[in-house]
Amino acid sequence: MCGIVGYIGSEEAAPILLRGLQKLEYRGYDSAGIAVWGKTGLMVRKSKGALKQLEEKIGPDLRDGALAGTMGIGHTRWATHGEPSDINSHPHTDVSGKIAVVHNGIIENHARLRTWLKEQGFKFRSDTDTEVAAHLIDFYYKGDLLQAVMAALKKLEGSYALGIICEAEPDRIIAVRKESPLVVGAGRGGNLIASDVPALLEHTREVYYLGDREIAVLYRNRIDFYNEDGEALSKKTSHVDWDAAAAEKGGYEHFMLKEIYEQPKALTDTLRARISAGEQAARIINLEEIGFDSSWAAARRVVITACGTAWHAGVIGKYAFEHFARIPVAVDVASEFRYRNPILDPQDIFIIISQSGETADTLAAMRLARKTGGRIIAITNVVGSTLAREADLVMYTWAGPEIAVASTKAFTTQLMCLYLIALQFGLLRKTIGPEELAAALRALEKIPAQAEAVLANQEKIQRFASLQFNKNKAFFMGRLFDYAVSLESALKLKEISYTHSEAFAAGELKHGPIALVDGSTLVTAICTQEALFDKMDSNIKEVKARGAGALVITWEDTDYFNETADEIFRIPRTLDSLSPMLSVIPSQLYAYYCSVLRGLDPDKPRNLAKSVTVE
Ligand code: F6R
Repeated sequence: MCGIVGYIGSEEAAPILLRGLQKLEYRGYDSAGIAVWGKTGLMVRKSKGALKQLEEKIGPDLRDGALAGTMGIGHTRWATHGEPSDINSHPHTDVSGKIAVVHNGIIENHARLRTWLKEQGFKFRSDTDTEVAAHLIDFYYKGDLLQAVMAALKKLEGSYALGIICEAEPDRIIAVRKESPLVVGAGRGGNLIASDVPALLEHTREVYYLGDREIAVLYRNRIDFYNEDGEALSKKTSHVDWDAAAAEKGGYEHFMLKEIYEQPKALTDTLRARISAGEQAARIINLEEIGFDSSWAAARRVVITACGTAWHAGVIGKYAFEHFARIPVAVDVASEFRYRNPILDPQDIFIIISQSGETADTLAAMRLARKTGGRIIAITNVVGSTLAREADLVMYTWAGPEIAVASTKAFTTQLMCLYLIALQFGLLRKTIGPEELAAALRALEKIPAQAEAVLANQEKIQRFASLQFNKNKAFFMGRLFDYAVSLESALKLKEISYTHSEAFAAGELKHGPIALVDGSTLVTAICTQEALFDKMDSNIKEVKARGAGALVITWEDTDYFNETADEIFRIPRTLDSLSPMLSVIPSQLYAYYCSVLRGLDPDKPRNLAKSVTVE
């Protein structure tokens, strides 16, 4: 996720771009840059770090008029391809610096295009997927930027929102989007593009929402729209009523809710580029981007370590590796692992999971693993983080920045990565065959749409929360994958609603926890492991007999719990082994609504920080 802006009009562009980028910093903040068309042609300035660093760098240019110009584009980056650096910052240009591009999204076929463009003689400066777009547009440029962009779009796969300007065409900005957001603002003194509405509000509340593959051509006094084949479109403006703070959250009341709703897109981004296209039966997982080869599957054991929510992802990872790859797995909380004097072996493979890539205990655990000589795979959301730099292989969750303290989209995308690695291990170790792999891949590809379906049904959870939010005792229970989801569900509820909540392996209930169950307890039973439905049904009856209320989260096509549950929340059917990516969503929503109904701020829970960089 990155933020892009563009302005063409009668005023100085640079200050407008910088103010727009300030409003988009929540979309990315590891580097920033602008390109302005002015008297000396296209002027590009960029800098690693927060927007403030760019502002300091170009301050003198702004003061002495060196960046004067009335058309420009800008970008604030959340790195995906290539670590944060001046070179990798946007805008990117063609070799001669005459065409500048800002991009949000992931160009999935960038590696193939890069090779092809290099064969045509193009020289690359950065590690980004975006630079491919700049060279490709240059390749097709024959004096008409719009034609060149349309030709280039035919070659690009993946998701993108692009803003493009050209030195030879000082009267227009071209913008296009596919699966990444882009809005076009119709202002009085000029027109604008932005990834999101907050960057436009200072200038206009009249916006056009671009559809997939639609192209906008912004002039100083008009905006034209085309489809990908160059046919003119007529579009209507929408009036934005949100205030600036609501707009920053995309109209959602809190970042947490926005991030819960971003999960289908984040899951798609994390999955798609890693499965090869083509015939279903011949499809493979492509983990070459992370340098994964068959030697990894010869490991003696997999050791997973992480903290908090990331550790819960690791617990699910253990079950997934055992299920698909039949390899022994140890999973540990990093703060225990680092002090426990664990027995490790150079033949172990370590998977270290961290959204931020900066958690102190997790980094210490990784460094301990490093000493044994075992190889390390990092799963992280932050390109260039310490974890990413120090691991042997990195698999990024392409979730975009997670602002809310409570982790949601990072968790589900961590799961997606773990499933992909587990399946790859399974294939290499021959514990699953091509048919089982194909079935799993088909199921994985349906997960984003199924997550969307769960979210479409959120009102039911909201209503249920409005009846239950004052309960001070909440238990979550499940078996196998559902037990791990129970751990994450209980953590979500406790951290943002301050409800005392605990998770149990349902089979453990009668070994102690049931002593706490009474009429004031809400028990959520997560029930997606079909072979154990009867066991779960008995557990639900046991807690109900002690007066507890029971919410069941289960498949949409089963009536197994109709008689026992007080309330059922249903999720679309997938493989039992893949259920966590769907079954956790109702719990995220439930925690969110309980927090809001209790008058709390779910984005900033007391006593908690987003990144725990000290012990
Ligand atoms: C809970 C939460 C924390 C983090 C934990 C590890 O919602 O966000 O439990 O998961 O602090 O953080 P990372 O993943 O950054 O290492």
